[in-house]
Amino acid sequence: MKTIDTLEREHEWIGWMAECLESQIALAQAEDILPEAAYELLSLYEQFADGRHQDKEESAFFPELLSSADEHEREVLQKLLLDHEAERRHLDAMRQNVLGAVYGEPGCVRAFVREAHDYLDLHHAHMLRETEILFPMAERLLSPEADERIVKAFEAIEGGAGDPHALREQILNLHQRAGLPRPPAA
Ligand SMILES: [Fe+2]
Ligand SMILES: [Fe+2]
Repeated sequence: MKTIDTLEREHEWIGWMAECLESQIALAQAEDILPEAAYELLSLYEQFADGRHQDKEESAFFPELLSSADEHEREVLQKLLLDHEAERRHLDAMRQNVLGAVYGEPGCVRAFVREAHDYLDLHHAHMLRETEILFPMAERLLSPEADERIVKAFEAIEGGAGDPHALREQILNLHQRAGLPRPPAA
Protein backbone atom coordinates (compact mmCIF):
# COMPACT_ATOMS: atom_id res chain seq x y z
CA MET A 1 0.00 0.00 0.00
CA LYS A 2 1.57 3.27 -1.19
CA THR A 3 0.40 5.26 1.81
CA ILE A 4 2.10 2.92 4.26
CA ASP A 5 5.27 2.71 2.14
CA THR A 6 5.57 6.52 2.29
CA LEU A 7 4.97 6.72 6.03
CA GLU A 8 7.36 3.84 6.75
CA ARG A 9 10.09 5.54 4.72
CA GLU A 10 9.52 8.74 6.70
CA HIS A 11 9.65 6.79 9.95
CA GLU A 12 13.07 5.52 8.91
CA TRP A 13 14.27 9.11 8.37
CA ILE A 14 12.73 10.20 11.67
CA GLY A 15 14.56 7.27 13.29
CA TRP A 16 17.86 8.74 12.04
CA MET A 17 16.84 12.05 13.61
CA ALA A 18 16.14 10.26 16.90
CA GLU A 19 19.65 8.79 16.78
CA CYS A 20 21.04 12.32 16.31
CA LEU A 21 19.00 13.53 19.27
CA GLU A 22 20.24 10.64 21.42
CA SER A 23 23.82 11.57 20.61
CA GLN A 24 23.11 15.24 21.42
CA ILE A 25 21.63 14.22 24.77
CA ALA A 26 24.77 12.20 25.57
CA LEU A 27 27.00 15.15 24.65
CA ALA A 28 24.92 17.70 26.58
CA GLN A 29 24.92 15.42 29.64
CA ALA A 30 28.65 14.75 29.49
CA GLU A 31 29.77 18.35 28.97
CA ASP A 32 26.81 20.45 30.15
CA ILE A 33 26.92 22.42 26.91
CA LEU A 34 24.38 22.70 24.17
CA PRO A 35 25.44 20.61 21.15
CA GLU A 36 26.30 22.80 18.17
CA ALA A 37 23.66 21.23 15.92
CA ALA A 38 20.83 21.28 18.48
CA TYR A 39 19.00 24.16 16.83
CA GLU A 40 19.41 22.68 13.36
CA LEU A 41 18.01 19.33 14.50
CA LEU A 42 15.07 21.01 16.21
CA SER A 43 14.30 22.95 13.03
CA LEU A 44 14.24 19.65 11.16
CA TYR A 45 11.84 18.25 13.72
CA GLU A 46 9.55 21.23 13.28
CA GLN A 47 9.76 21.17 9.52
CA PHE A 48 9.58 17.44 8.91
CA ALA A 49 8.71 15.12 11.83
CA ASP A 50 6.32 17.44 13.63
CA GLY A 51 5.55 19.24 10.36
CA ARG A 52 5.17 17.42 7.09
CA HIS A 53 4.94 13.87 8.46
CA GLN A 54 2.33 14.58 11.10
CA ASP A 55 0.43 16.79 8.64
CA LYS A 56 0.12 13.83 6.33
CA GLU A 57 -1.11 11.61 9.14
CA GLU A 58 -3.51 14.12 10.65
CA SER A 59 -4.96 15.74 7.57
CA ALA A 60 -5.04 12.82 5.11
CA PHE A 61 -4.34 9.41 6.60
CA PHE A 62 -6.28 9.47 9.89
CA PRO A 63 -9.44 11.10 8.43
CA GLU A 64 -9.62 8.44 5.71
CA LEU A 65 -9.25 5.71 8.37
CA LEU A 66 -11.81 7.37 10.64
CA SER A 67 -14.47 7.11 7.94
CA SER A 68 -14.47 3.31 8.25
CA ALA A 69 -13.13 2.78 11.78
CA ASP A 70 -15.11 1.06 14.54
CA GLU A 71 -15.17 2.38 18.09
CA HIS A 72 -11.96 0.65 19.18
CA GLU A 73 -10.14 1.80 16.04
CA ARG A 74 -11.30 5.38 16.64
CA GLU A 75 -9.82 5.19 20.13
CA VAL A 76 -6.50 4.05 18.64
CA LEU A 77 -6.48 7.08 16.33
CA GLN A 78 -7.45 9.40 19.16
CA LYS A 79 -4.53 8.11 21.24
CA LEU A 80 -2.12 8.69 18.36
CA LEU A 81 -3.38 12.27 18.00
CA LEU A 82 -2.81 12.83 21.72
CA ASP A 83 0.74 11.51 21.26
CA HIS A 84 1.31 14.08 18.50
CA GLU A 85 0.12 16.88 20.75
CA ALA A 86 2.37 15.73 23.59
CA GLU A 87 5.33 15.46 21.19
CA ARG A 88 4.69 19.07 20.11
CA ARG A 89 4.70 20.25 23.70
CA HIS A 90 8.07 18.56 24.33
CA LEU A 91 9.52 19.97 21.12
CA ASP A 92 8.30 23.42 22.08
CA ALA A 93 9.93 23.12 25.51
CA MET A 94 13.14 21.85 23.88
CA ARG A 95 13.17 24.86 21.57
CA GLN A 96 12.62 27.29 24.47
CA ASN A 97 15.51 25.69 26.36
CA VAL A 98 17.83 25.64 23.35
CA LEU A 99 17.19 29.36 22.93
CA GLY A 100 17.71 29.91 26.64
CA ALA A 101 21.00 28.00 26.51
CA VAL A 102 22.16 30.04 23.50
CA TYR A 103 21.60 33.19 25.56
CA GLY A 104 23.38 31.68 28.58
CA GLU A 105 20.37 31.20 30.85
CA PRO A 106 21.28 28.80 33.67
CA GLY A 107 19.69 25.35 33.80
CA CYS A 108 18.59 25.35 30.17
CA VAL A 109 20.95 22.61 28.99
CA ARG A 110 19.73 20.29 31.73
CA ALA A 111 16.11 21.16 30.98
CA PHE A 112 16.75 20.53 27.28
CA VAL A 113 18.15 17.07 28.12
CA ARG A 114 15.14 16.27 30.31
CA GLU A 115 12.64 17.31 27.65
CA ALA A 116 14.56 15.52 24.91
CA HIS A 117 14.56 12.31 26.98
CA ASP A 118 10.81 12.57 27.56
CA TYR A 119 10.26 13.35 23.91
CA LEU A 120 12.25 10.30 22.78
CA ASP A 121 10.45 7.96 25.20
CA LEU A 122 7.13 9.12 23.82
CA HIS A 123 8.38 9.07 20.26
CA HIS A 124 9.64 5.46 20.46
CA ALA A 125 6.33 4.30 21.97
CA HIS A 126 4.41 6.21 19.28
CA MET A 127 6.44 4.69 16.44
CA LEU A 128 5.81 1.22 17.85
CA ARG A 129 2.05 1.89 18.08
CA GLU A 130 1.99 3.08 14.47
CA THR A 131 4.04 0.15 13.18
CA GLU A 132 2.33 -2.60 15.14
CA ILE A 133 -1.24 -1.33 15.41
CA LEU A 134 -1.92 1.53 12.98
CA PHE A 135 -0.40 0.16 9.79
CA PRO A 136 -2.01 -3.30 10.09
CA MET A 137 -5.30 -1.47 10.79
CA ALA A 138 -4.82 0.60 7.64
CA GLU A 139 -4.15 -2.55 5.61
CA ARG A 140 -7.54 -3.84 6.82
CA LEU A 141 -9.55 -0.66 6.40
CA LEU A 142 -8.28 1.15 3.33
CA SER A 143 -9.47 0.32 -0.16
CA PRO A 144 -7.15 0.85 -3.16
CA GLU A 145 -9.26 3.95 -3.98
CA ALA A 146 -8.75 5.35 -0.48
CA ASP A 147 -5.02 4.65 -0.80
CA GLU A 148 -4.94 6.69 -4.03
CA ARG A 149 -6.86 9.57 -2.42
CA ILE A 150 -4.34 9.68 0.41
CA VAL A 151 -1.40 9.58 -2.02
CA LYS A 152 -2.84 12.62 -3.81
CA ALA A 153 -3.32 14.46 -0.53
CA PHE A 154 0.28 13.59 0.43
CA GLU A 155 1.49 15.01 -2.89
CA ALA A 156 -0.39 18.25 -2.19
CA ILE A 157 1.36 18.51 1.19
CA GLU A 158 4.74 17.69 -0.38
CA GLY A 159 4.09 20.25 -3.12
CA GLY A 160 4.52 23.12 -0.75
CA ALA A 161 7.24 21.58 1.37
CA GLY A 162 10.42 21.52 -0.71
CA ASP A 163 12.51 18.69 -2.12
CA PRO A 164 12.26 15.47 -0.05
CA HIS A 165 15.63 14.20 -1.34
CA ALA A 166 17.33 17.36 -0.11
CA LEU A 167 15.65 16.85 3.23
CA ARG A 168 16.89 13.24 3.41
CA GLU A 169 20.43 14.38 2.64
CA GLN A 170 20.21 17.09 5.30
CA ILE A 171 19.19 14.49 7.89
CA LEU A 172 21.99 12.16 6.79
CA ASN A 173 24.49 15.02 6.93
CA LEU A 174 23.49 15.79 10.51
CA HIS A 175 23.69 12.07 11.30
CA GLN A 176 27.21 11.86 9.88
CA ARG A 177 28.34 15.00 11.73
CA ALA A 178 27.15 13.36 14.96
CA GLY A 179 29.68 10.60 14.22
CA LEU A 180 26.97 8.01 13.54
CA PRO A 181 27.49 5.36 10.85
CA ARG A 182 25.65 6.07 7.60
CA PRO A 183 22.51 3.91 7.41
CA PRO A 184 22.48 1.32 4.63
CA ALA A 185 21.00 2.57 1.34
CA ALA A 186 17.35 1.58 0.88
FE1 LIG B 1 4.13 8.47 11.90
FE1 LIG C 1 2.28 9.77 14.17
